[in-house]
Amino acid sequence: MSDYQIPRPTSGDVLDLILDDHRLFEDLLRQARRNDVDREAARTALTELLVAHGEAEEEKVYSTLRTKRAIGEHEQEHGKEEHAEINEAIIGFLEAKGTDTDKYDSALEDLATAVNHHANEEEQTILNPAREDVSLDVRKELGVAWATRRNELLDQGCASLEQVKALLHRAEEEGTIASPKAREEADEIEEKAKKEAKEVEEASKEQEKAGD
Ligand SMILES: [Fe+2]
Ligand SMILES: [Fe+2]
Repeated sequence: MSDYQIPRPTSGDVLDLILDDHRLFEDLLRQARRNDVDREAARTALTELLVAHGEAEEEKVYSTLRTKRAIGEHEQEHGKEEHAEINEAIIGFLEAKGTDTDKYDSALEDLATAVNHHANEEEQTILNPAREDVSLDVRKELGVAWATRRNELLDQGCASLEQVKALLHRAEEEGTIASPKAREEADEIEEKAKKEAKEVEEASKEQEKAGD
C-alpha cells in the first residue's frame, strides 16, 4: 500500500486536469529523490501515475484534438514517441533493485529529464493550441473521458515492470519509437559522421597553416 494517495478527479477542463498531474509529477520526482521518505512508495506512485496519465492522453485526448485540428499528425506522433521514451526510462528506474544506490539515482535523473522535457513540450505544442482551438464544452467532455480512463488504469495497476515493457514493445511494433538496435545503429552513424566532419575540419586547418 502506497503512502501516496493520488487524487482521482472525475471532471473538469481536461487542460487543467493534465496540468495538475504535471505538477504532481514534479512533486513525486522530488519525493523519490528525498532521503527521509519511503522511496519505494514514491517510486510506485510516480510510475503508476506517469503510465496512467500518458495512456489516457493517447487514448482519449490526442486523437480528438487532432480531429478538432488543434494539433497535427506530427504533434500526436511526437507526443506518443515521448511517452515511449518515458516508459523506457521507467523500465530503467524499476530495474534498479534498491532505492539507495547509484543506479537508482541515475535512473531517476534519466526519468526526470524525460518527464520534464515531455511536460514542457506537451504544454507548448499540444495544450496551448487546444486552449485556443477547442471549446470549453469539448474540453470538459475530454476531461471526463481522460479522468475516467486514467483512474481506471490507476485502480487496476498499470506500471509493473512487465506492463511497462509490454507498452514499450507495442510502441516499437507500431513504429512509434525505433527498436533499440535501430537506435544503436543510428547513433553509430551519427558518431561516424561527427568523426569525419572533425577530420575534414582538422585537414583544412592544416592546409591553411601550410599556406601561411
Ligand atoms: Fe501530460
Ligand atoms: Fe503526455
